[in-house]
Amino acid sequence: MEDSTEFILQDQGSRMVHSSKDNPILTVATGALLAGLYGMWTMFALPGFRKVPRRLKVPYLPSSKAQIVNAMQLLEGRRGQLVDLGSGDGRLVFAAYSVGLQCTGFEINSMLLAYARVKARWTGVPPSQANFVNKDFWKTDLSNYNNVTVFLAPGLMEVLGEKLLRELPDDARVIACRFPFPQWPHRASQGDGLDQAWAYDISTVRSALGQA
Ligand SMILES: C[S@@+](CC[C@H](N)C(=O)[O-])C[C@H]1O[C@@H](n2cnc3c(N)ncnc32)[C@H](O)[C@@H]1O
Repeated sequence: MEDSTEFILQDQGSRMVHSSKDNPILTVATGALLAGLYGMWTMFALPGFRKVPRRLKVPYLPSSKAQIVNAMQLLEGRRGQLVDLGSGDGRLVFAAYSVGLQCTGFEINSMLLAYARVKARWTGVPPSQANFVNKDFWKTDLSNYNNVTVFLAPGLMEVLGEKLLRELPDDARVIACRFPFPQWPHRASQGDGLDQAWAYDISTVRSALGQA
């Protein structure tokens, strides 16, 4: 029995080796397809990254529909200016615009920026209500915004929290998607798992951390 199993495995193994040797065109085509897919991914996910220090780099990953719904629920009743830090293809900005906020998206990836701008024009969203700016948000003063959305990476939430506490007005609300701020008390949260979002009121966070 063991002998016949061994024989079958050997036979299948040699057939697999033969099949790829017998089809050099298939091998080349598969390689080219993988290289093409990798090229497309780097084109969309990485441009603009050279200027950002390695520890602060965040690749593109779009918010899910549920995540956007959760974030918008946490913004209910809010008015004024919203900024999305790393706006990607603009989906959080468009959602926030549709609930009446005046929005800005900062994005360093020029391909995603162009996509969001074309989509805004195509769908008739006026630039005065939703605009996309090619800026590194780490180097940008955020004191004009009283609503902030972030979907970034867990490793930089602490340092981002310090920047937001230095710059945001006291009445600001921050919505963190998927990755919460480690030391901040949250006002509310919506959803669970990968789609969870947390709301923080800056005045409450400042009081809790003794920075009021
Ligand atoms: C995880 S994606 C989130 C995209 C979008 N906010 C969403 O929810 O679908 C993070 C985005 O931040 C952008 N990004 C990363 N670092 C940035 C920086 N320093 N300034 C501006 N954009 C940045 C990336 O290019 C990427 O598009």
